[in-house]
Amino acid sequence: MSEPQNSTFRPRIFSGIQPSGGLTLGNYLGALKRFAALQGGEAETIYCVVDLHAITVWQDPEQLKTRIREAAAAFMAAGVDPAKSVLFNQSQVSAHAEMAWLFNTVARVGWMYRMTQFKDKAGKNSENASLGLLAYPALMAADILTYQATAVPVGEDQKQHLELTRDIAAKFNHDYGVEHFPITQPLIEGVATRVMSLRDGSKKMSKSDPSDASRINLTDDADTIAQKIRKARTDADPLPGSAEGLKDRPEARNLVNIYAALSDESVDQVLARYEGQGFGTFKPALAEVAVASMAPITKAMSDYMADPAEIDRVLADGADRAEAIARPILNRTKDIMGLLRTR
Ligand code: AMP
Ligand code: TRP
Repeated sequence: MSEPQNSTFRPRIFSGIQPSGGLTLGNYLGALKRFAALQGGEAETIYCVVDLHAITVWQDPEQLKTRIREAAAAFMAAGVDPAKSVLFNQSQVSAHAEMAWLFNTVARVGWMYRMTQFKDKAGKNSENASLGLLAYPALMAADILTYQATAVPVGEDQKQHLELTRDIAAKFNHDYGVEHFPITQPLIEGVATRVMSLRDGSKKMSKSDPSDASRINLTDDADTIAQKIRKARTDADPLPGSAEGLKDRPEARNLVNIYAALSDESVDQVLARYEGQGFGTFKPALAEVAVASMAPITKAMSDYMADPAEIDRVLADGADRAEAIARPILNRTKDIMGLLRTR
């Protein structure tokens, strides 16, 4: 059977972020900033705080609600506008969990064991990981395909999960002889799809890194941001004149990429200005750009958090709108699978 033509599906963008603790500059540049930029185009935009994903590892119930609201606040602070996008938290739209179960019967166990995120998160004692952590990618496929989303903006680390989403869609379409699910396009674009640790250029910047100096948090104040950039690991060479010259300099490349992504310039444009300069000059310049872009976001986030009832109202409205799209697609999926619906 041929691949479904995504042109038969209306253009729809879906993405999600886990509310599992403080968000970083990596989340902002790799995801949130791009989510905001994709609004108002041809495609409808649907953004989700994926709380059901977060609980695949232990979350303190006392903190989880706050973290869900914080993630929603971060979306809005980064420019996701609930008037232009659907913004909601996953657990309020039960179609995600129902679709995930249907996909658990389509996906193969072997596909799940191959996921590098599972291997990383499960660690050595993988027999003791939650079953949800193993099945996580089927839920992610459900998030996307319950909206028949045609494109998904994410950072580089989610590429494998999106390939699995395509495999699930293709297997479903093939097994049932339908063209029900689109073969979703990953949108992994720009210079900041993999922002690296400030302490180690071979590691991804991550909220779970034990060293706080390795990342910039969306809640860091201006002094902290400047200090972390000043202390970031680099090398002793001056900056080259073009991107090619950064090939074997992961720490230097990371800082230049961050600069370019924050200022909406190309790496070559940034290097044209700083060629021949050392980090003594470049780091303060980067700190200035970073503080100028991040301070308004940090401020907006705390303003949103000062009014949790308003966040809850946005999420309730978003959940209603998400539900209205998801439910008919879920029902159609059940019909295709032969499940009896009498109401
Ligand atoms: P998570 O915080 O794992 O839910 O990730 C949310 C989004 O941020 C996903 O699209 C990730 O790919 C993206 N992301 C997380 N860390 C980074 C990073 N260091 N660089 C670029 N994108 C990232
Ligand atoms: N797995 C993603 C992450 O860890 C979060 C996520 C869940 C997601 N469902 C999604 C991203 C659907 C894009 C689309 O970052």
